Amino acid sequence: MSKAFKRTLVTSALPYANGEIHLGHLAGAYLPADIFVRYLRQRKEDVLYICGSDEHGVSILISANKEGVTPKEIIDRYHNSNKMAFERVGMSFDNYSRTSLDIHHETAQEFFTEFHKKDVLESKVEDQLYDEKAKMFLPDRFVIGTCPHCGYERAYGDQCENCSKYYKQTELVNPKSLLTDETPVVKSGTQWYYPLGKYQKQLEEFVESHKKDWKENVYGQVQSWLKAGLSDRPISRDMTWGIPIPLPESEGKVLYVWFEAVLGYISSTKEWASQQGNPEDWKRYWCDEDTRYLAFIGKDNIVFHCVMFPSMLMEKGDYVLPENVPANEFLNLEGRKFSKSQNWSITLNEFLDRFEPDPLRYALATNMPETKDSDFYWKDFQARNNNELADILGNFVNRTLHFTRKNFDGKIPEATSVDPADTAFIDELKKEVAKIEVSYNRFRFREAVASTMNLARISNKYFNDQEPWKALKTDKDRCGTTLHYCIKAIAAMAVYFEPVIPFSVQKLWKMLDLPDASGYTWQNALDTELPSGNELGEMVLLFPKIEDDAIDAEMAKLGGNDDEPARDYPPIGEQITIDDVFKLDLRVGTILEAERIPKSNKLLKIQVDIGMEKRQLVAGIGKAYKPDAIVGKQIIVVANLKPAMLFGVESQGMLLAASLDDEGPTLVTPIEHMPNGSTVK
Ligand code: 2FM
Ligand code: ZN
Repeated sequence: MSKAFKRTLVTSALPYANGEIHLGHLAGAYLPADIFVRYLRQRKEDVLYICGSDEHGVSILISANKEGVTPKEIIDRYHNSNKMAFERVGMSFDNYSRTSLDIHHETAQEFFTEFHKKDVLESKVEDQLYDEKAKMFLPDRFVIGTCPHCGYERAYGDQCENCSKYYKQTELVNPKSLLTDETPVVKSGTQWYYPLGKYQKQLEEFVESHKKDWKENVYGQVQSWLKAGLSDRPISRDMTWGIPIPLPESEGKVLYVWFEAVLGYISSTKEWASQQGNPEDWKRYWCDEDTRYLAFIGKDNIVFHCVMFPSMLMEKGDYVLPENVPANEFLNLEGRKFSKSQNWSITLNEFLDRFEPDPLRYALATNMPETKDSDFYWKDFQARNNNELADILGNFVNRTLHFTRKNFDGKIPEATSVDPADTAFIDELKKEVAKIEVSYNRFRFREAVASTMNLARISNKYFNDQEPWKALKTDKDRCGTTLHYCIKAIAAMAVYFEPVIPFSVQKLWKMLDLPDASGYTWQNALDTELPSGNELGEMVLLFPKIEDDAIDAEMAKLGGNDDEPARDYPPIGEQITIDDVFKLDLRVGTILEAERIPKSNKLLKIQVDIGMEKRQLVAGIGKAYKPDAIVGKQIIVVANLKPAMLFGVESQGMLLAASLDDEGPTLVTPIEHMPNGSTVK
């Protein structure tokens, strides 16, 4: 039996304040959390929903450098625009804070100081990547290279965005400084280390205790981390932007962003408590075992929320640990990854400038990337609005209220002639509501939302079966009773649809104009008596149809050339001489065999005939090509490259492929067939 908690604390990953929230972000860590929180609020449960901007870290600095402005300008701009976007789409945070606030700096420094005093932290001299031109160590996102695990070529210094693995920056293959484009050197430097390995056993027990309730993708990823064994993690960085390490000997060092960002949930709760006039009240949510803590995130954040953060809370003691971490996979747009540089994106603010929030919430919820990546398709968005919200829910509300206005003076008719069909109708709705509850409690939002729309389907069927338009002529009491039950269903649906389409539900309550709408709860909505004789409010159109033109215009904008997309061209490399060029021995070869390297979605092991001999290559083209599709193709091989091990497999050379931003790689091939072993100059 799972524990009965008294209250629920919900957090959504704090988005970096260095870019605009887009639909992919919304479907990941935000919309599901908001729907869940609203569901609990309809149940009148004690719930607190916390979020805020993540305002430190290298990504903010890089954005500032790119634009030639201060980091403060960047965070102010994006904190404000993201906060506004979230409000416009109906995110019902109790607090949306910022990690640049004093309250957060104090909270993070308190954790560090306490760990330092308890001798938990270790100061170690370790090899790090150093940019000799910029004269600085290169933390995290200041360096990219090839991921040592999956071969992704634009992996950052701390974590690979492709396979989500976390590693030492010196493990990166072919590292490059993003500041100067130089190849960094390995140099030793002092950093503070957090002994993650010390919590291995405790974390294993913690994760094991949630084997049954955590989503498979979350449990599986954490298990593979634990199996690989946890080791010390550096938690300080040589930078000026961030939270200073509160020790005189560590001047010039700041806390690693992930060490402090997760603590942002706590400081945001503290800020909320102070705003409520009860500064100590945050402890009720964080330091009381009767709290159920749920951390909603995207899949790239799993390790930090399931391993790092829990271990910090364990060490601090007296804090609740996440009861569940419902991580979503990624949402793509029309079959491709969101990419601002390729104009393949739409920000939330742009979307809401042109469309209403509820159809978006509904369309995303029906298609959430819960267990695997999913796609937002404009045509699907249109169909969800027109064929479901408008034609099923909107139609039922419209026909019921219109009929009542026309034939019953716009007043709720009395239920004077109740028939078994009416009680059966309510029972059927209740059964569907029970299904919605089961789905929400398992964090299955797609299922929950599908069942919610079934309430409107069941209601339409009841209306059709009862044929009130016929009864109107033969048995007005019976007709009135049917309408009474239909209005009862609408009021209940206002409760059950609220988590998904809160703005439309506000309109619905106004249309019903019930004096005691606030008395409705999730549990009692279908048993609440309707005040017969009560006059209904003004009718409004809940879901105007979205026309083809509007959708076509959006699709035409994707990847369009109106504004030539601002491509992220890598800078031209350092000048070399013709002698350098001739050092490269490039040969034509034919691919004989290709196969995937187990556990890598990116790497292929390829056998190539280069005329005088056969070579085995490991190439990061597995996402662009299926192995079978390249067998027989001619390619260009760097034949005099020193062999290297990649993913435990020897690569005896390198093939040439073109790529830019997210496009490619595509193999470089001679346009006419050439004998294998031909030289390329
Ligand atoms: O991935 C991200 O966008 C991070 N800013 C999430 C941080 S979640 C928490 F730690 F604050
Ligand atoms: Zn990787």
